[in-house]
Amino acid sequence: MALKDLISINDLTSTEIRKIFTTAADLKANPRNYSDALAGCSVALIFEKPSLRTRVTFDLGATQMGASCVYLDHQGVRLGERESVKDMALNLERWVDVIVARTYSHETVIELAAHSSAPVINGLSEFSHPCQGLTDYFTLTEKVGPDLKGFHIAYVGDGNNTCHSLIFAAAKLGAHISVGCPKGYEPDAEVLKLARKDARKTGAKIEVVNDPFDAVEGAQAVYTDVWASMGFEAETERRREIFSPFRVTKKLMKATEKDALFMHCLPAHRGDEVDADVIDSRISIVYDQAENRLHTQKAIMFLLVEANR
Ligand code: CP
Ligand code: NVA
Repeated sequence: MALKDLISINDLTSTEIRKIFTTAADLKANPRNYSDALAGCSVALIFEKPSLRTRVTFDLGATQMGASCVYLDHQGVRLGERESVKDMALNLERWVDVIVARTYSHETVIELAAHSSAPVINGLSEFSHPCQGLTDYFTLTEKVGPDLKGFHIAYVGDGNNTCHSLIFAAAKLGAHISVGCPKGYEPDAEVLKLARKDARKTGAKIEVVNDPFDAVEGAQAVYTDVWASMGFEAETERRREIFSPFRVTKKLMKATEKDALFMHCLPAHRGDEVDADVIDSRISIVYDQAENRLHTQKAIMFLLVEANR
């Protein structure tokens, strides 16, 4: 990979994305072949927000490849408060080979990357969740085959960080993404602009509508995420009212293509963004997505360290 960091899927080429997928598949099939891949390396995990999947899978993934991890718990304290983000990067780069950061502000990840010679991986910011988006399309390749050109995914709910990463990846891979969200909760206009630029080259289709039934028409997978992301908890009640028509129900799933899959990055709130009889049914692949966080992030760490040796 030519990249030093993984900040946003928009920074990747489609070839790099496919390389991540093939490496993840190989890592998943042959984990022992990589047991020394990061021998002697150290990984810093900096989290301003809570996490189950990202924290566990980066920690285990690095350990399984021979690296050691240091976890920096900043929950409740934003980076840059005790010392500048720049100074933090300039310290960490002297000790570690990879920095994984989950931050409120996307600018914080960019600043860490700008000042650290060690690769920085965005473990979720308010703007994007690239490791999640890459994992999700990798999971789809396992379900429907390696070429996702023309595959139609509908994202229903908040036009948030996860949604942005799914849009960027669809654009690079030539997939079709239709986003259904309430007025005022659409994905960022700049994301759509950048993604549509790629879409013109790859044949991807990107549409945003304000009716969930329009979004899922013809979809082969329906994806949703929480209505109030981390950092927006104060809006939970207000959003519950605004978003309730966007709940993924059996009725909504019936309006899709036959045999459509259900996807969610988790954590999920049954009865809010998705009904239990959808997420807990046989069409749901949410635990495959969660498992694949491990393999995909191992591939990302492996490829970034290799490229920066
Ligand atoms: N999907 C995801 O990133 O989960 P965590 O917030 O638990 O890491
Ligand atoms: N959009 C969610 C994703 C959680 C993995 C959030 O930012 O809280």
